[in-house]
Amino acid sequence: MKKPVIAIDGYSSTGKSSISKIIAEKLGLIHLDTGALYRGITWFALQNCVTKDGTIDLNQLFSMFGKIHLEFRNNDGELILFLNSIDISKAIRSHEVSENVSLVAKQKEVRDFLLCFQRSLAENGGIIMDGRDIGTVVLPKAEYKFFMTASIEERTKRRYQELISLGIDADEEQVKQNLIIRDKIDSEREIAPLKQADDAIVIDNTYLTKRETIDSILSHINKI
Ligand code: DC
Repeated sequence: MKKPVIAIDGYSSTGKSSISKIIAEKLGLIHLDTGALYRGITWFALQNCVTKDGTIDLNQLFSMFGKIHLEFRNNDGELILFLNSIDISKAIRSHEVSENVSLVAKQKEVRDFLLCFQRSLAENGGIIMDGRDIGTVVLPKAEYKFFMTASIEERTKRRYQELISLGIDADEEQVKQNLIIRDKIDSEREIAPLKQADDAIVIDNTYLTKRETIDSILSHINKI
């Protein structure tokens, strides 16, 4: 039997990736955190395409797509993102990348560049992909679609704790402002904005633990 394709979209720091990862393990699926891809391109741009005034030169970035090779390598079940054979899984969580990723992600050229890559990974089914436009644009025919949301206070707390646990210095107010700005840019952009698919199930996990959120998602999957 062909394994399902599951799309999980939603706001930043609603726990999409960590929850998708656990569900993938339980159901024997591959998990793909698509935000990591946009962060990877942003990291590359910050290394190679910065103007004298410190901003990203987008045209230079677009002209260098041929030099970007993104790849997930399996390390004991965990997919680690490599860019041109460099492990960038920690570097993409930096404050600098978080500050610039929404600008990069709203570019049509960047989205087109990543679209085929994401779709090709889902061709054979058996995948859970999390992001912002998976149920609406990348995999509109996914068997199951979820849209996750939570209060800004709760999301700030979660992202702050994630950064601290990664050993990255963080300031709670700065984390909150970054989430607010990113959500705004992600929701208002012209191409593939952050949006709930009409047929997605909404999960507000402000008052749910990770365990409860997972159980809620699994209950929908088992029901159908
Ligand atoms: O999930 P994340 O916070 O790591 O995502 C980083 C950024 O990438 C987010 O601000 C918006 C963008 N993104 C996107 O535009 N489309 C996706 N499918 C996933 C992420």
